[in-house]
Amino acid sequence: MKILAVSGSPRKDGNTERLLKTALDIIESHGIQTEFFSLREKSILTCNACMGCEKGPRCILDDDFDPIFNAMVESDGFIIGSPVYFGSATGEVTAFLDRAGYVARKNGNLFSRKIGGPVVVARRAGQNFTVAQLLMWFMINGMVVPGSSYWNMAIGKQKGDVVEDEEGIKTIKDFAENLAWLCKLIKGKQG
Ligand SMILES: Cc1cc2nc3c(=O)[nH]c(=O)nc-3n(C[C@H](O)[C@H](O)[C@H](O)COP(=O)(O)O)c2cc1C
Repeated sequence: MKILAVSGSPRKDGNTERLLKTALDIIESHGIQTEFFSLREKSILTCNACMGCEKGPRCILDDDFDPIFNAMVESDGFIIGSPVYFGSATGEVTAFLDRAGYVARKNGNLFSRKIGGPVVVARRAGQNFTVAQLLMWFMINGMVVPGSSYWNMAIGKQKGDVVEDEEGIKTIKDFAENLAWLCKLIKGKQG
Protein backbone atom coordinates (compact mmCIF):
# COMPACT_ATOMS: atom_id res chain seq x y z
CA MET A 1 0.00 0.00 0.00
CA LYS A 2 1.38 3.39 -0.91
CA ILE A 3 -0.06 6.89 -0.63
CA LEU A 4 1.65 9.99 -2.03
CA ALA A 5 1.37 13.69 -1.34
CA VAL A 6 2.10 16.34 -3.97
CA SER A 7 2.63 19.93 -2.86
CA GLY A 8 1.91 22.75 -5.27
CA SER A 9 3.43 25.49 -3.12
CA PRO A 10 6.56 27.26 -4.34
CA ARG A 11 7.53 27.80 -0.68
CA LYS A 12 9.85 25.31 1.05
CA ASP A 13 8.67 24.25 4.53
CA GLY A 14 5.52 26.32 4.09
CA ASN A 15 2.01 25.68 5.32
CA THR A 16 0.99 23.34 2.49
CA GLU A 17 4.02 21.13 3.13
CA ARG A 18 3.28 21.07 6.87
CA LEU A 19 -0.31 20.00 6.29
CA LEU A 20 0.68 17.30 3.81
CA LYS A 21 3.41 15.95 6.08
CA THR A 22 0.94 15.91 8.99
CA ALA A 23 -1.35 13.75 6.84
CA LEU A 24 1.49 11.46 5.71
CA ASP A 25 2.65 10.92 9.32
CA ILE A 26 -0.82 9.66 10.25
CA ILE A 27 -1.03 7.45 7.16
CA GLU A 28 2.41 5.97 7.89
CA SER A 29 1.38 5.24 11.48
CA HIS A 30 -1.13 2.79 9.97
CA GLY A 31 1.66 0.84 8.24
CA ILE A 32 1.05 2.39 4.83
CA GLN A 33 4.07 3.53 2.80
CA THR A 34 4.15 7.19 1.85
CA GLU A 35 6.15 9.50 -0.40
CA PHE A 36 6.23 13.29 -0.57
CA PHE A 37 6.67 15.24 -3.82
CA SER A 38 6.88 18.97 -4.35
CA LEU A 39 6.37 20.90 -7.56
CA ARG A 40 8.63 23.61 -6.10
CA GLU A 41 11.55 24.43 -8.41
CA LYS A 42 10.33 21.81 -10.88
CA SER A 43 9.67 22.61 -14.50
CA ILE A 44 6.03 21.75 -15.18
CA LEU A 45 4.89 23.12 -18.53
CA THR A 46 1.24 23.78 -19.29
CA CYS A 47 -0.76 21.38 -21.48
CA ASN A 48 -0.45 22.42 -25.12
CA ALA A 49 -3.41 20.27 -26.25
CA CYS A 50 -1.23 18.31 -28.69
CA MET A 51 -3.25 15.13 -27.94
CA GLY A 52 -0.01 13.14 -27.92
CA CYS A 53 -1.34 11.28 -24.88
CA GLU A 54 -4.00 9.69 -27.10
CA LYS A 55 -1.19 7.54 -28.52
CA GLY A 56 -0.02 6.20 -25.14
CA PRO A 57 0.11 6.84 -21.41
CA ARG A 58 2.67 9.60 -21.31
CA CYS A 59 2.93 13.32 -21.90
CA ILE A 60 5.33 14.23 -24.70
CA LEU A 61 6.38 17.51 -23.04
CA ASP A 62 9.95 17.18 -21.80
CA ASP A 63 10.16 18.42 -18.21
CA ASP A 64 9.83 17.17 -14.61
CA PHE A 65 6.31 15.76 -15.04
CA ASP A 66 7.01 12.05 -15.68
CA PRO A 67 8.51 10.85 -12.37
CA ILE A 68 5.67 12.35 -10.31
CA PHE A 69 2.97 11.19 -12.72
CA ASN A 70 4.39 7.66 -12.87
CA ALA A 71 4.55 7.47 -9.07
CA MET A 72 0.88 8.50 -8.94
CA VAL A 73 -0.05 5.76 -11.41
CA GLU A 74 1.84 3.18 -9.32
CA SER A 75 0.31 4.36 -6.01
CA ASP A 76 -2.92 3.41 -4.26
CA GLY A 77 -3.76 7.07 -3.89
CA PHE A 78 -2.54 10.61 -3.43
CA ILE A 79 -3.26 13.91 -1.75
CA ILE A 80 -2.80 17.17 -3.66
CA GLY A 81 -1.96 20.26 -1.59
CA SER A 82 -2.20 23.86 -2.69
CA PRO A 83 -2.01 27.30 -1.13
CA VAL A 84 -4.80 29.62 -2.26
CA TYR A 85 -3.52 32.18 -4.79
CA PHE A 86 -6.07 34.81 -5.81
CA GLY A 87 -8.95 32.61 -4.73
CA SER A 88 -7.85 29.39 -6.45
CA ALA A 89 -5.12 26.75 -6.72
CA THR A 90 -1.60 27.74 -7.77
CA GLY A 91 -0.47 27.69 -11.38
CA GLU A 92 1.90 24.84 -10.56
CA VAL A 93 -1.02 22.70 -9.38
CA THR A 94 -3.32 23.42 -12.30
CA ALA A 95 -0.52 22.94 -14.88
CA PHE A 96 0.33 19.59 -13.32
CA LEU A 97 -3.25 18.35 -12.85
CA ASP A 98 -4.37 19.35 -16.36
CA ARG A 99 -1.71 17.12 -17.85
CA ALA A 100 -1.96 14.28 -15.31
CA GLY A 101 -5.74 14.13 -15.66
CA TYR A 102 -5.66 14.19 -19.44
CA VAL A 103 -3.00 11.48 -19.78
CA ALA A 104 -4.86 9.33 -17.23
CA ARG A 105 -8.26 9.76 -18.86
CA LYS A 106 -6.98 9.16 -22.41
CA ASN A 107 -5.45 5.85 -21.34
CA GLY A 108 -8.15 3.91 -19.54
CA ASN A 109 -8.73 6.15 -16.51
CA LEU A 110 -5.43 5.36 -14.79
CA PHE A 111 -6.51 7.00 -11.51
CA SER A 112 -9.90 5.31 -11.31
CA ARG A 113 -10.67 3.89 -7.82
CA LYS A 114 -7.50 5.27 -6.30
CA ILE A 115 -8.15 7.18 -3.09
CA GLY A 116 -7.16 10.71 -2.16
CA GLY A 117 -8.27 14.28 -1.91
CA PRO A 118 -7.24 17.91 -1.73
CA VAL A 119 -5.71 19.94 1.10
CA VAL A 120 -5.63 23.74 0.90
CA VAL A 121 -4.41 26.67 2.99
CA ALA A 122 -4.90 30.43 2.78
CA ARG A 123 -4.27 33.54 4.83
CA ARG A 124 -7.92 34.58 4.86
CA ALA A 125 -10.26 33.45 2.06
CA GLY A 126 -10.61 31.27 -1.01
CA GLN A 127 -10.28 27.87 0.66
CA ASN A 128 -13.86 26.81 -0.16
CA PHE A 129 -13.48 27.52 -3.84
CA THR A 130 -10.05 25.88 -4.03
CA VAL A 131 -11.23 22.71 -2.28
CA ALA A 132 -14.17 22.57 -4.71
CA GLN A 133 -11.89 23.26 -7.68
CA LEU A 134 -9.58 20.38 -6.77
CA LEU A 135 -12.47 18.05 -5.88
CA MET A 136 -13.75 18.47 -9.45
CA TRP A 137 -10.46 16.97 -10.64
CA PHE A 138 -10.58 14.04 -8.20
CA MET A 139 -14.18 13.23 -9.08
CA ILE A 140 -13.84 13.29 -12.87
CA ASN A 141 -10.86 10.97 -12.52
CA GLY A 142 -13.03 8.34 -10.82
CA MET A 143 -11.22 8.64 -7.51
CA VAL A 144 -12.66 7.88 -4.08
CA VAL A 145 -12.42 10.81 -1.65
CA PRO A 146 -12.96 10.15 2.08
CA GLY A 147 -14.45 12.85 4.27
CA SER A 148 -13.21 14.50 7.43
CA SER A 149 -14.59 16.49 10.37
CA TYR A 150 -14.56 19.66 8.25
CA TRP A 151 -13.54 20.48 4.66
CA ASN A 152 -9.80 19.95 4.06
CA MET A 153 -8.59 23.49 4.65
CA ALA A 154 -6.57 25.54 7.11
CA ILE A 155 -5.58 29.12 7.84
CA GLY A 156 -2.05 30.53 7.78
CA LYS A 157 -0.02 33.28 6.18
CA GLN A 158 3.64 33.04 7.18
CA LYS A 159 5.52 29.75 7.09
CA GLY A 160 4.39 27.58 9.99
CA ASP A 161 1.36 29.71 10.95
CA VAL A 162 -0.85 26.77 10.14
CA VAL A 163 0.21 24.85 13.25
CA GLU A 164 -1.72 27.47 15.27
CA ASP A 165 -4.94 26.53 13.46
CA GLU A 166 -6.06 23.72 15.73
CA GLU A 167 -9.24 22.94 13.86
CA GLY A 168 -7.44 22.99 10.51
CA ILE A 169 -4.81 20.53 11.77
CA LYS A 170 -7.52 18.30 13.28
CA THR A 171 -9.41 18.32 9.98
CA ILE A 172 -6.33 17.15 8.07
CA LYS A 173 -5.55 14.49 10.69
CA ASP A 174 -9.13 13.19 10.58
CA PHE A 175 -9.00 13.11 6.77
CA ALA A 176 -5.73 11.15 6.92
CA GLU A 177 -7.23 8.69 9.44
CA ASN A 178 -10.20 8.09 7.14
CA LEU A 179 -7.95 7.75 4.11
CA ALA A 180 -5.76 5.15 5.86
CA TRP A 181 -8.84 3.25 7.06
CA LEU A 182 -10.27 3.21 3.54
CA CYS A 183 -6.96 2.20 1.97
CA LYS A 184 -6.60 -0.81 4.29
CA LEU A 185 -10.25 -1.77 3.79
CA ILE A 186 -10.01 -1.65 0.00
CA LYS A 187 -6.69 -3.48 -0.19
CA GLY A 188 -7.87 -6.09 2.31
CA LYS A 189 -11.02 -6.78 0.30
CA GLN A 190 -9.00 -7.05 -2.91
CA GLY A 191 -6.67 -9.58 -1.23
C1 LIG B 1 0.48 35.30 -5.13
C2 LIG B 1 -0.26 35.00 -3.85
C3 LIG B 1 -1.63 35.04 -3.83
C4 LIG B 1 -2.35 34.80 -2.64
N1 LIG B 1 -3.71 34.81 -2.67
C5 LIG B 1 -4.40 34.57 -1.53
C6 LIG B 1 -5.82 34.59 -1.53
O1 LIG B 1 -6.49 34.73 -2.55
N2 LIG B 1 -6.45 34.41 -0.34
C7 LIG B 1 -5.77 34.24 0.84
O2 LIG B 1 -6.40 34.13 1.88
N3 LIG B 1 -4.42 34.14 0.86
C8 LIG B 1 -3.72 34.32 -0.30
N4 LIG B 1 -2.35 34.22 -0.29
C9 LIG B 1 -1.66 33.79 0.95
C10 LIG B 1 -1.28 32.29 0.93
O3 LIG B 1 -2.38 31.47 0.55
C11 LIG B 1 -0.80 31.87 2.33
O4 LIG B 1 0.33 32.64 2.69
C12 LIG B 1 -0.47 30.39 2.44
O5 LIG B 1 -0.24 30.06 3.78
C13 LIG B 1 0.76 30.02 1.63
O6 LIG B 1 0.98 28.64 1.74
P1 LIG B 1 2.47 28.00 1.67
O7 LIG B 1 3.18 28.41 2.93
O8 LIG B 1 2.26 26.55 1.56
O9 LIG B 1 3.11 28.56 0.45
C14 LIG B 1 -1.63 34.47 -1.45
C15 LIG B 1 -0.22 34.44 -1.48
C16 LIG B 1 0.46 34.69 -2.66
C17 LIG B 1 1.99 34.63 -2.66
